[in-house]
Amino acid sequence: MDFFERDIAVDLGTTNTMVYVSGKGLALREPTVVAMDADSGRLLKVGEEAQKMLGRTPANIVAIHPIANGVISDYDMTVRMLKELITRVTGFSLFKPCLIITVPGSISGVEERATIDAGIEAGARKVFLVESCVAAAIGSGADISRPDGHMVVDIGGGTTEIGVVSIGGVVESESIKIAGDAFDDAIVKYIRRKHNLAIGQKTAEEVKIAIGSALPTQEPETRAVKGRCLMTGLPRSVDVTTTDIAEALLEPIEQVLDAVQIVLERTPPELVADVSVNGIILSGGGSLIPGVDTIILAKTGIKVNRVEEPLTCAAYGAGRLLRELGRLPEGMVNLARKRQGR
Ligand SMILES: Nc1ncnc2c1ncn2[C@@H]1O[C@H](COP(=O)(O)OP(=O)(O)OP(=O)(O)O)[C@@H](O)[C@H]1O
Ligand SMILES: [Mg+2]
Repeated sequence: MDFFERDIAVDLGTTNTMVYVSGKGLALREPTVVAMDADSGRLLKVGEEAQKMLGRTPANIVAIHPIANGVISDYDMTVRMLKELITRVTGFSLFKPCLIITVPGSISGVEERATIDAGIEAGARKVFLVESCVAAAIGSGADISRPDGHMVVDIGGGTTEIGVVSIGGVVESESIKIAGDAFDDAIVKYIRRKHNLAIGQKTAEEVKIAIGSALPTQEPETRAVKGRCLMTGLPRSVDVTTTDIAEALLEPIEQVLDAVQIVLERTPPELVADVSVNGIILSGGGSLIPGVDTIILAKTGIKVNRVEEPLTCAAYGAGRLLRELGRLPEGMVNLARKRQGR
């Protein structure tokens, strides 16, 4: 058996978890959800199946999102989820894989330790952590080993990670808790305010994906949205337009832009010059909202290259790193947070 054959990279996101297996490629993409029996504490399902179970099952079955804002919020459930996903891709082999896990740049020491421990407890031999924006930069195809600055803006579900990467390391970064989930919240609030209609987070996400835009468009689309009328308490439906969504997203997107600006201001001039030549790498599910790239270009004057596959880019990057891990001399890819498992 090839030593590296079964090493694994996990993009452990707030919304989605991607599992990349060395020598195989992207093996799993699942929502980061586990279903648990609230009475017995038993884990029932992980990922897509857990999500499907919800809402159609007795009240004792609860959904747990073990990752919040990019970091572990429920340690036991994260371990069980990782264990299940690792087993799915390696079978019941006794071989303990090395694991690369993506983490936000803002992760604390305690959270780092918890992530490493969770990986080890889930069956890994060693755990390496890599910042999401480094993984996304590699996944986009950028050569980050050279002294050349690349800026990544990764808009995920829980966090937006902004980082300038050069010679394998993060030079400047900022991580804010404004991303896809915050966009959904803003839509919920907007519809409540404008139409006196209470809608759920899930409905807000659906309308965001269906007709969302960061900018008003030439031909706005309309979607009927169902909710509970705040005046009568009864079900009601309203028509929501692309323009409404753009208006709702104004504030959270402005916060993303401010963070981008802050990182650019802090970045050494030579690297800013590199970034202006290379363009900004835009990734993460949140970048699928039309117009986000245009708005970043308008704010910064720097061209924006949205990666081909925003949802899986970081997983591919972490996967590529996994392949190189055994070959590269230490320090070549600056895994500043690299730690050996116990
Ligand atoms: N087509 C789309 N248009 C707009 N938003 C989308 C689209 N597809 C997915 N999203 C949003 O992308 C977000 C998930 O993105 P992603 O999978 O990159 O996040 P994550 O890696 O799980 O989270 P994080 O990196 O914050 O921990 C969700 O908020 C989802 O609503
Ligand atoms: Mg992510």
